[in-house]
Amino acid sequence: MTRFEAERIAGLVQSDIRLMSRRCMELGGVNLGQGICDQPTPDVVKAAAKAAIDGDQSIYSKFEGIDELRRRIAGKMASYNGLPCDPDSEVLVAAGSTGAFVAAVLSFIEPGDEVILFSPFYGYHYNVLRMARPEIKSVTLRGSDWSFDPAELRAAFSSRTKAVIVNTPANPCGKVFTREELQQIGALCTEFDALAITDEIYEYILYDGREHVSMATLPGMRERTITISGFSKTYNMTGWRLGYAVAPAEFTARMGVVADLVYICPPTPLQHGVVAAFDLGPDYYEQMSADYARKRIQTMEACDAVGLTSLAPQGSYYLMVDVRGAGFETDVQAADVLMQQCGVAVIPGHSFYLDPADGRTQLRLCFAKQDHDLDRACDGIRKLASVTT
Ligand SMILES: Cc1ncc(COP(=O)(O)O)c(C=O)c1O
Repeated sequence: MTRFEAERIAGLVQSDIRLMSRRCMELGGVNLGQGICDQPTPDVVKAAAKAAIDGDQSIYSKFEGIDELRRRIAGKMASYNGLPCDPDSEVLVAAGSTGAFVAAVLSFIEPGDEVILFSPFYGYHYNVLRMARPEIKSVTLRGSDWSFDPAELRAAFSSRTKAVIVNTPANPCGKVFTREELQQIGALCTEFDALAITDEIYEYILYDGREHVSMATLPGMRERTITISGFSKTYNMTGWRLGYAVAPAEFTARMGVVADLVYICPPTPLQHGVVAAFDLGPDYYEQMSADYARKRIQTMEACDAVGLTSLAPQGSYYLMVDVRGAGFETDVQAADVLMQQCGVAVIPGHSFYLDPADGRTQLRLCFAKQDHDLDRACDGIRKLASVTT
């Protein structure tokens, strides 16, 4: 740590994911590492944003976002999530779901608090939390359905627990928390008077008929849940930086103050653009699910064919595999061979765990790729058979 560095960023570095992406670019490989979906943004959304730019919708919006967008978000929360809310006081449009998560963490978490995070976790959740410097307690998801041990979860709660973070459907393991699991978590939040901060950004990407359940709809949870989602994944617009939080008015008011101080408002013309996304019909979502379901199977088949044992994701567009069946002892060895000899970038599993040993034999692959890139990646993965034998 240098003389100038703030304690809150001590030890924070760019993730393995960025490093793998850089190496992949140097080697001209296919990047299944970074969770970037490279499908096009829907035309209606692009047209509406262009019209907003041409119409000079260029000034700061309200920090909580433009009225029309908050109204449409509230409509979607009622119809899709079963969570009616007041668009004027309970919706905060943010700079990506990340902006909403940062605002929640800075508003409610501080040194001395404990926060519970499920491993494997999304790196931003862990690292953003670290900036607020609570004690982070991990509960590990295990087995083919990534379930948690209820006793381990209960033991993680204490009178100092300020929040539990729930990501469903989850990055990196693709877990979709069931209603029963969410009820167990919710009951502990109520018993220990803790918040639930949920990240539901993959809420439309579900497989095998699974149901997305929003924690805030469960008994007793509405008043203690901050529901976070966004547009990046559903409408292929990660670079637009638009997401939102839905929470009781006293929470969104606090988070709004923080968001305002950090970046004033989300990009105004793009907010006008994304309003058009709410007019997309059910066929848009059905097509997206069908496309990802097909890519999921294609990627799992390529992995299983070479002994990278896949753990079928229940949602999201990531796949975790175990490397031992392909003759590797560690995630890093397998990721190196896949990169150097097969031209495919993947992420070593240890980076998703508080105790890296838990992920030492796992890899994460992102299959949100255009068909020709995914075909090339799957061909590359299949080459592993000749490399390892
Ligand atoms: C679980 C999860 N949450 C949030 C994000 C980022 O979302 P946004 O672009 O809305 O900030 C990602 C991106 O990979 C993610 O996987």
